[in-house]
Amino acid sequence: MKFFIDTANLDQIREAQDLGVLDGVTTNPSLMAKEGISGKENILQHYLDICEIVDGDVSAEVVATDFEGIVKEGTELAKLHKQIIVKVPMIKEGVKAIKYFTDHGIKTNCTLVFSAGQALLAAKAGATYVSPFLGRLDDISTDGLNLIEEIRLIYDNYGFETEILAASIRHTMHVINCAKLGADVMTGPLSSIDGLLKHPLTDSGLAKFLEDAKSFI
Ligand code: G3P
Repeated sequence: MKFFIDTANLDQIREAQDLGVLDGVTTNPSLMAKEGISGKENILQHYLDICEIVDGDVSAEVVATDFEGIVKEGTELAKLHKQIIVKVPMIKEGVKAIKYFTDHGIKTNCTLVFSAGQALLAAKAGATYVSPFLGRLDDISTDGLNLIEEIRLIYDNYGFETEILAASIRHTMHVINCAKLGADVMTGPLSSIDGLLKHPLTDSGLAKFLEDAKSFI
């Protein structure tokens, strides 16, 4: 399972990278705005800064919603750096653009996916990644994990190579349950990765070992 961090915060990306388990980064316009990044040149530079920190894939989202606009913006993003994955929304023009990018060797991440049908369309268009938003489904009392399970079944039935990128992860149990269901990738906040480290028996066990080790000296 690949671990991506879902942020545009460079310090948090560095911290996750330092742990040695980071495989990539996902961003979106809201995450960029949260860091106060605005203006085309600043945004492109920020993507480059992220690519300098991590070795893996970095999703950069288009904001155009028409086919020509998505293709123009996505082509420019893809040319920026070899690690850039063009993030495209699950809309009709987006599906057409994903097919265009697939045919032109540009990797994509189909975002804002909330149903198995949408995930099937993204795979048919050749998306590199599909991003089901499980936390946002949970937020409206719908089982987000069930969607991951459905997509896994459908993709396995037909051997689709599109990777399931479980997005809108909120906490460590989302990560663990997605791993059980066979999601290829998870993207979440730093806390969802750091949380995997924690267990009170580890803390108390280490405290006892260190206490007993004092007699060795
Ligand atoms: O980056 C897409 C997705 O992970 C957003 O998550 O927490 O805003 O629902 P969230």
